[in-house]
Amino acid sequence: ASARSATCTYSSAIRADDNARARARIPGLIAMPLHLRAICADITTLALDAIVNAANSSLLGGGGVDGAIHRAAGPELLRECRLLDGCRVGDAKLTRGHRLPARHVIHSVGPVWQDGRHGEPELLASCYRRCIEVAAAAGLSSIAFPGISTGAYGYPVELAAPIAVTSVRTAAPLHPGLTDVVFCCYSEQHLAIYQRLLDGCDTDSDAR
Ligand code: APR
Repeated sequence: ASARSATCTYSSAIRADDNARARARIPGLIAMPLHLRAICADITTLALDAIVNAANSSLLGGGGVDGAIHRAAGPELLRECRLLDGCRVGDAKLTRGHRLPARHVIHSVGPVWQDGRHGEPELLASCYRRCIEVAAAAGLSSIAFPGISTGAYGYPVELAAPIAVTSVRTAAPLHPGLTDVVFCCYSEQHLAIYQRLLDGCDTDSDAR
């Protein structure tokens, strides 16, 4: 199998005690550790509660991960998407997974990169936050994200990855049922970027 289809998982759970404290602040909730991890894989192969699709606002399919998910899910996915009346940039909508190993697909529309001064960071953060909210509302516990906007939409991955990790670290603790979040990279280069962020050892920033 090609390197991309192999799973090179680096499990990097954020410290459960920090997370337990964060969750314990919500009275009456049992603190469950939130596991964040980065892997290098084809997201359509992941048997999780949900995989996120980097879609366009029509929700009628496309190339990249959108095309891969629709190919793997089969035509029923497109039929279900047609009923959703599209999706705004920064928002997210849930469908079933159909023929995918994942139970659900959460379709989210990322911003097209311009120069970072047209609301792109806020819209990208909104994608991750809304996907977490949609997953939590559906009672899901595991979710995988592709690098939203980092392909055809041109968002530099070194700028997008910190937004992805920070948004998830901020939103997920508010939804105790969500315990497993995967950043599913499609190249070793992207994986290395996420790995540094999850390990908190982004030496570049230390060097400054
Ligand atoms: N599994 C995991 N990641 C993947 C896969 C896959 N099977 N295929 C592609 N990727 C990665 C890309 O390498 C990139 O890092 O997903 C990231 C997002 O790239 P795109 O799929 O191009 O999505 P995006 O940049 O958000 O552009 C969305 O492209 O496909 C169209 O319909 C889509 O118009 C929309 C636009």
